[in-house]
Parts: sequence; structure tokens; C-alpha cells
Amino acid sequence: MASLISSPLFKFLLISFTFLSFFLNKSYAFEGRKAIESHYHTVEISSLLPASVCSSSTEGPSKRPSTLKVFHRRGPCSKHSQDKATPSLYETLSQDQSRVDSIQFKINQNVEIDKINDKQVTLPAQSGQSLGSGNYIVSLGLGTPKKSLSLVFDTGSDLTWTQCQPCAGSCYTQKDPIFNPTESTSYSNVSCSSTQCSQLSSTTGNDPRCFNQTCVYTLQYGDQSFTVGFFSKDTLTISPSDVVPNFYSGCGQNNKGLFGNTAGILGLGQDTLSIVSQTVQKYGKYFSYCLPSLSSSSTGHLTFGNSGVSSNVKFTPFASSKGTSFYFINILGISVGATQLAISPSVFKTTGTIIDSGTVITRLPPAAYSALRTEFKKQMSKYPSAPPANSLLDTCYDLSKYTTITIPKIGFTFDGNVKVDIVASGILYTFDPSQVCLAFAGNSDASDVGILGNVQQATLEVVYDVAGGKLGFGPGGC
Ligand SMILES: *[C@@H]1O[C@H](CO)[C@@H](O)[C@H](O)[C@H]1NC(C)=O
Ligand SMILES: *[C@@H]1O[C@H](CO)[C@@H](O)[C@H](O)[C@H]1NC(C)=O
Repeated sequence: MASLISSPLFKFLLISFTFLSFFLNKSYAFEGRKAIESHYHTVEISSLLPASVCSSSTEGPSKRPSTLKVFHRRGPCSKHSQDKATPSLYETLSQDQSRVDSIQFKINQNVEIDKINDKQVTLPAQSGQSLGSGNYIVSLGLGTPKKSLSLVFDTGSDLTWTQCQPCAGSCYTQKDPIFNPTESTSYSNVSCSSTQCSQLSSTTGNDPRCFNQTCVYTLQYGDQSFTVGFFSKDTLTISPSDVVPNFYSGCGQNNKGLFGNTAGILGLGQDTLSIVSQTVQKYGKYFSYCLPSLSSSSTGHLTFGNSGVSSNVKFTPFASSKGTSFYFINILGISVGATQLAISPSVFKTTGTIIDSGTVITRLPPAAYSALRTEFKKQMSKYPSAPPANSLLDTCYDLSKYTTITIPKIGFTFDGNVKVDIVASGILYTFDPSQVCLAFAGNSDASDVGILGNVQQATLEVVYDVAGGKLGFGPGGC
């Protein structure tokens, strides 16, 4: 025995074994660290709070062609952030629910009508457009000479409109001077007999009316907000080199509602009168954006046309829009940390999902949300919980005693096996450090459509190739 222990072979084996186990330990540790990096976000609490300083210049042309700068209405780069009319985080969420209700209503109505009329789809007279809290704003030029207007940009509606002099009914207070058509040499009223006037029926859900030969539009939003005015055309200026002559939009004479202090809405839906369709010759129904998160100190962008896509943008096909102008995509699955949630694909298939720039919090089918919440709670169990923020966000934590936290990543897989990681600010909605909530919500009805909201889209490069029938996602767009 003694001879064995002292034998060179044994020594060799012993040394090899020690070396090997040292090596193995090292590699386990390495694997472990890699797993933490790839399945978890380590973030400072301060990085989840709204930014207070704007780091990018808000004026001046963008480096990209055909691009507008995008501001979060409450963000540090917005001139609206200190306004009383800008909703608080809690108000934002209650307005968010009214937007979601009106989207559900509109889609359900259409599905019903679809079933009855087969292919002949007509919108109900009072379809209730979706408005919500209008979080993201762009600034465009209208008229000749051009006047700058801050508009809420909205992929969930179609008609672009702005408040207009002489405000024959009434105008709410806005930040920019109210557009005066008599000062624009390129402005003209649209006649009642034009094709575009008749297209208003499907765009707005209300038949146009006629006043003194001029086409009059009416647009109601789900929350009792509305705009009524002359249908008009004028020159729209996106950038000095991107000028759209004869752009059809609403010259709002009677406007009321939750539009904040913005001058109106920029409609990016799929309908014939949306800016996307009206500029098809110029931009080929192709646009992209990046929405800055509320905690980001810089601006995002809204770009028209395809000037080259980064290779890390992956495309998922659009799904049938069910006769609406919304953008539908298919979710295949969701992961939390290293765990792929056990959700039957039929859960997402039955309802479908839209991507919407105006909905704040992503809405999931109830079965999907409950699986997400259960797994998220499990992986967050080391953090003390806090009471629900409201009826929408029910999974909250008190993180006031922490400066840095580690949270599981949340990933979505879309049709075409496109995997998209949500950034940390899209996983947690931070009211203050003592109330930080999982930023997802469940629909109340299993048949309601899913909605990918703007909190989860934040910082992603989102590419709408409408003509090509596909939607792209890439990391780090802004
Ligand atoms: C009707 O239209 C004509 C021609 O555009 C215009 O001169 C007139 O002022 C309009 N009348 C009213 C009541 O707006
Ligand atoms: C547009 O039409 C209305 C109604 O006829 C009229 O009052 C207004 O003056 C017209 N605006 C311009 C700029 O022609």
C-alpha cells in the first residue's frame, strides 16, 4: 500500500485529478457566470427611475435621412414633461385601460361583422378610436411656410389631424401656436365629392359630412375625446429633404379630450388615409422607430423608408389584420430567466396579438400572464413584495433598500423563431423605489386580443415593412 501511495503513477494521478477538478470547478464557475449574464439583468435601481436630464440635442436635423426625433411625453427631452396636462404614471395607466378597451371593442366588432358579412367589412358607425395616454411625440412641419407641430404618433389610428384656426367649435390649450390655414399658401379644403372624402368612413368609422362644399370629418376616441373639422390637404415636411405635397389631414375645428398639450395625432395605421399609405410612392409603406424609455435621457427616432436595416434586426411575418388597420403578429412563447413557460401555443393563436405604439403595458391572454407572473415571482422571491399598484399591475416589489438588483430576463419568441429580449425598463414599471411592478398585465377575457405595448418596445429598433408583410425587431435602437 505504502509503495502504491509513493509510486510515481499515483502521484501523477493525484496531481492530474487535482488539476482536473480545479479546471472543472473553474469551468463550472465560468458556465454559472455566463448563465447569470445570459438569463438575468443586473441593474441599478436608479437606472429604472425617470431620467431628469436630456443628454441629446432636441433641435436640429437628425443624422439619418427621413427621420423625426421621438420624445417620451414625460421624458426629460420633452417640452411637455412639466405640463399639468401631462398625466402622472398612475393616470397614464388608467388611460391605458380605456385605450385597450376601445381596441378590444373595435377588433371584436370587426370579427363579428367579418363573420356575418364574410368579406364585406364595414366599420360600425361609432367604432371608438383608441387614444390612450399618447406617450410618444414627434415634431413635423405643416403648410407653406411650414409651421412646426408636436403630434402624438400612433400606430393604432390612421387619420392625421391638428387643431386649426379659427377653432369654430373649440380648441384645447396646446404648446405650439394653433395652425392657421389662411397663412399657408399650399393649404386647400378637400371637396365633398372627392374619393378621399368618401374614404373617411372607413378611416374614422364615421361618415363624412358636407359643409359649403367642404368635406367635414368626425373622429371619436374611446374615452369621449373627439375632433371634428375640415378635411384638408397641405404640404407636410418631415425633414428639409422630405416634403410630402398634398398630404390629407384633418383641420380640427372642434377638439376636446386627453390630447395633453400636443397639437394633434399622426396616424400610422394601415388604412388608406394613414401617413404610411399616403406616402407609399415615396417610402414604399416602410417605416421604423425606436421609442426611448422613460428612464432614458435621449431621444428616439421615427424614420420613413428603407435606408438599410442593421443585420441584427430579425423579421417576423405580420398576421392577418382581421379587417382592421392594426398590425398583427404571432407570439409563439415567452421565457423568464432560463425557463421557457409552459403555455400552449393555442393560447396566443386564438386571440392574436397586435403591436401598438400607444398602449403602455403589454396585455397577454390570462393563461399566459398567469404563467409569466408565477415564474417571475418564483425567480424574484428574494425581494420583498409590495402591494399592487392598481388593478392593472398586481406583482410589485419594495426595492427601496437596494441599489442594485438582479432580475430574470423576459424573452418573447415570435413567428419565424424570432427571439426578442425585453430590456430591464420594459420588465419593471417603477413608480418609485418602494413600488416597482412587473410591467405586464393579463386580459380579463381569454378571447381578447394580446397587445405588445410601448414599455416593452422601448429601446428596440422596430421595423414595419408593411409592403413586405413583416415586422422586424433589433436590440439597441436608441
Ligand atoms: C363657402 O365657401 C366659399 C368658397 O370657398 C367661401 O368664400 C365662403 O366664405 C364659404 N362660406 C362659409 C359660410 O364658410
Ligand atoms: C374651408 O372651408 C370652410 C367651409 O366652407 C371655410 O369656412 C374656410 O374658409 C375654408 N378654408 C380655406 C382656407 O379655404
